[in-house]
Amino acid sequence: MCGIVGVLGNHEAAPLLVEALKRLEYRGYDSAGIATVHDGRLDRRRAVGKLVNLSDLLVHEPLTGKSGIGHTRWATHGAPTVDNAHPHRAGPVAVVHNGIIENFRELRAELADAGIQFQTETDTETVAMMTQKHLDQGMSPADAARATLARLHGAFALAFLFEGEDDLIVAARKGSPLAIGHGDGEMFVGSDAIALAPLTDEITYLEEGDSAVITRTSLEIRTEAGEIANREKRKIQLNSTRVDKAGHKHFMAKEIAEQPTVIGEAVRHYLTQDGTGVKLPGADLDFTKVDRLTMVACGTAFYACLTAKYWFEQLAGIPVEVDIASEFRYREPPISKGTVALFVSQSGETADTLAALRYCEGKADKILSVVNVAESSIARESDIALPILAGTEIGVASTKAFTCQLTVLLMLALKAAQDRGAIKATKCTDLLSKLRALPSVLNETLDCESQLEDTARKLAEAKDILFLGRGLMYPLALEGALKLKEISYIHAEAYASGELKHGPIALIDKHVPVVVLAPKDALFEKSISNMQEVMARNGKVLLITDKPGAKEGGDGVWQTVVLPEIDPVLSPILYAIPAQLLAYHTAVAKGTDVDQPRNLAKSVTVE
Ligand code: F6R
Repeated sequence: MCGIVGVLGNHEAAPLLVEALKRLEYRGYDSAGIATVHDGRLDRRRAVGKLVNLSDLLVHEPLTGKSGIGHTRWATHGAPTVDNAHPHRAGPVAVVHNGIIENFRELRAELADAGIQFQTETDTETVAMMTQKHLDQGMSPADAARATLARLHGAFALAFLFEGEDDLIVAARKGSPLAIGHGDGEMFVGSDAIALAPLTDEITYLEEGDSAVITRTSLEIRTEAGEIANREKRKIQLNSTRVDKAGHKHFMAKEIAEQPTVIGEAVRHYLTQDGTGVKLPGADLDFTKVDRLTMVACGTAFYACLTAKYWFEQLAGIPVEVDIASEFRYREPPISKGTVALFVSQSGETADTLAALRYCEGKADKILSVVNVAESSIARESDIALPILAGTEIGVASTKAFTCQLTVLLMLALKAAQDRGAIKATKCTDLLSKLRALPSVLNETLDCESQLEDTARKLAEAKDILFLGRGLMYPLALEGALKLKEISYIHAEAYASGELKHGPIALIDKHVPVVVLAPKDALFEKSISNMQEVMARNGKVLLITDKPGAKEGGDGVWQTVVLPEIDPVLSPILYAIPAQLLAYHTAVAKGTDVDQPRNLAKSVTVE
């Protein structure tokens, strides 16, 4: 949610800021803006909509200066207008902000009482106004910013730029991530390492409550209590920060196609050398001491957890509770001894998931996370962070991160089953060898793309679409519906097939396509009976199954997509692919913005 950048460079800052913002645009694209200082003069440019609008504006109204800050916005307070776009300015100070200042109304009232007039509806303007007030009282820029920071409640990453100061940025983080990049006589600030990758590979992450006074040659970090802090300088891995479409039309298409490769890497990472077991490199976890698992996440990651519940319960016999982070964090659930809390997050920065993790600190026996971004807050605050190794995911709709999450969670469930003696060695080795072979089955599955493309053109005309699944296919039906609605804007819902007749069947008529996910597994006959109930009411069924399933259940359905046969345990990873392709091609047929769907952002760092 919102991306911020800062540059104290030796070259013109505007192009560097725009390039860095391009790499952060996945965090929001309601507006973008930059501010620079040139010969002591602070100036800014802002534009509504995507970054390209700001780039166009800069062609006609360039901004010079080697120091600057920039912002790409996902609107929280105030509509996406130029006035509400960052950087926000109050006299000699400009501010960019990611997060929410929760007490901004109180601060705004205080400033209004002092005669200060506001130009915008944003919480961020309050930060700029308050800093100006402190400057007017004679404080230095760094002291003025820090005095403001001391008054703020909520979650934020902030960068301040000052008139008359060509060599100064003040930055701070609380709840939202912020990285400082070290160059050769240059310094940078960014919401994440991806933004800074073309500029430097040496990064210092600010910790919770830290503030930093940055010049081209110095970095002074202080804790919230005002004490000087030494924070580690790390080398970031540039291969994880490559951001291009590799010839695909969209990042989402590229990321769908990458799944066989990245899943193969994830399997190799967690497989023991002899192929008969699961290892957790660098981590020590014994499931014999685990009584229950509490899994918490949001959105697609939540559906990965729902899937994993079946695996942990059926393979390892561990009771599992799964919850949505935004509900879990305020419900104050009791966490009994023997509980391992497991958090799943692609970005590792989702505000609700992070808050849920912090709730479990000191209560759960261990805090585990399954993350894509290894340097993220969730990874760093976990006792054990298991990387999913999906590589950078740019498409706002998660694809390869979801299937890599599933892969790692399945391997973890197999480790749990082995530790607890709940699975026969031969069965475990068999599943692990099937996991090793999965990339080639996934490649074969991707061959169904052209058929799904044709079907998607027809689905694009629908107003409502239902997804049905049973057992392991139920969470996948939920994921399929989410994927479709977020990028095609078609209303889609998912139900456990057996639940249909308890209400949702009233929705069925000839205008409602129903996607039935039904591999030929132990629940196949039941799924097909439910499908027949839909067809008896003129429902238009798209059946996604395998060869035996098509033979037994395919009669009279509108369309059948036939996938390779797979062990039912592994089926969610495979069936994710047609669900993703269906959503992708429906969105393409509708002409929506696939990689940056409206109203969404990739990293949800606000509640
Ligand atoms: C949907 C999607 C979201 C995320 C959710 C959690 O395609 O990507 O539902 O899964 O916002 O994000 P992370 O995994 O970063 O915590």
